[in-house]
Amino acid sequence: MLSSDKVTPQLMITVGTAVIGSLQFGYNTGVINAPQNIIESFYNETWSSRFSEPIPQTTLTALWSLSVAIFSVGGMFGSFSVGLFVNRFGRRNSMLMANVLAFISAIFMGFSKLAASFEMLVIGRLIVGVYSGLSTGFVPMYIEEISPTSLRGALGTLHQLGVVIGILMAQIFGLESIMGNASLWPLLLGFTLLPSVLQCVLLPLCPESPRYLLLINCNEENKARGVLIKLRGTDEVSEEMEEMKEESQQMMKEKKVTIPELFRSPVYRQPIFVAIMLQLSQQLSGINAVFYYSTMIFERAGVSQPVYATIGTGVVNTAFTVVSLFVVERMGRRPLHLIGLMGMAVSAVFLTVAMALLECYNVTVDQGSPIPLVVCKNNRLEPFPLIQQLCGPYVFIIFTILLLGFFVFTYFKVPETKGCTFDEIAAGFRQTAGQGSDKYSAPEEFNTLRGDDPDL
Ligand SMILES: *[C@@H]1O[C@H](CO)[C@@H](O)[C@H](O)[C@H]1NC(C)=O
Repeated sequence: MLSSDKVTPQLMITVGTAVIGSLQFGYNTGVINAPQNIIESFYNETWSSRFSEPIPQTTLTALWSLSVAIFSVGGMFGSFSVGLFVNRFGRRNSMLMANVLAFISAIFMGFSKLAASFEMLVIGRLIVGVYSGLSTGFVPMYIEEISPTSLRGALGTLHQLGVVIGILMAQIFGLESIMGNASLWPLLLGFTLLPSVLQCVLLPLCPESPRYLLLINCNEENKARGVLIKLRGTDEVSEEMEEMKEESQQMMKEKKVTIPELFRSPVYRQPIFVAIMLQLSQQLSGINAVFYYSTMIFERAGVSQPVYATIGTGVVNTAFTVVSLFVVERMGRRPLHLIGLMGMAVSAVFLTVAMALLECYNVTVDQGSPIPLVVCKNNRLEPFPLIQQLCGPYVFIIFTILLLGFFVFTYFKVPETKGCTFDEIAAGFRQTAGQGSDKYSAPEEFNTLRGDDPDL
């Protein structure tokens, strides 16, 4: 173990400050689900007082969907804009600047009730979406760049931990007895202001990423060394400095790559394909369906307080993110991802069986689970129960098949990156590209240590 492999207090504080951004993303993802009925009444009242007639149901549904979904639209814009900020202003300053968006959105959402304006809430959701998209780019990048190679996986998990804790916080704060009620919901949405204030106070005490300092300006070497000494709590940083310098020289030699080139060039095709598949394996695993509809699932399963069961899923999610934090560097990223995929596949099979059993007891698909309900909406008018019967479990079988596909892909195509430097990872992919992806033969250290994307 190198002397630089320690988790120093300075490193912890810096990482902790950064993950406030992850917390914000999670919070704003989860916050909108609990107070749905209350905010819908607000929309209705506002509409009534403006137009002297109650809001039509379709308009209300559209307006609510817009309030929820516009967050993702903002998130997409934010994600695409990450590159505009990080290389111009630096990683730390980008995070600092993004908080302006969190402030503005908190004000828009927090005062929408007072101003009797649902437009303000929608705009606030859009802006906090942009902020969240930026944060999900900034935070993992900053954490990875300031972490020692051996701890990069574990500390990278903290971003994910921040997200799930944020979701959990939103679930708890959204309880009717806390802020999920008619008088306090503006505070529930405006709460996003507080973490931003905290981050703005702490960020100036955190150093700029040493990799960024080296990449932008070679004369910043002393500054970068100073940052490393501070973060690692030791003067013996020359080895890591060399590694970083080599990397930044490599990066400066490489010309700028356009998006189409990413897909055309054999050098990039393999890593970009792996990255996309890893993201898809998360998005198409069915976990989001479980998260968005868990309250409804528990309700239909006969749980008397479904909100608490939903909070239970948030707790389990958080607990296992903590577990992965401790085992990721020991087990590697790849085996963990494989276990996760297999676990999800088994769960999907269980859900299929559970639904089939529910049907045996004469419970219709509608009561069995809301997910096929959504997918089978068109079939609900069909008089044939057979179609419903086939359609219900069918959805989970799709998830099972997808998950098994991702498992096979990860097993054969995704290399372990545990303990590898950025350079070694890139070299591994270059080697693969050079030989054609059929004859997979990476450098020795790349092959013996195999894993997945640290962002997952
Ligand atoms: C809107 O509020 C009015 C009056 O309280 C109520 O009668 C109506 O059902 C509500 N409309 C919707 C779509 O919820």
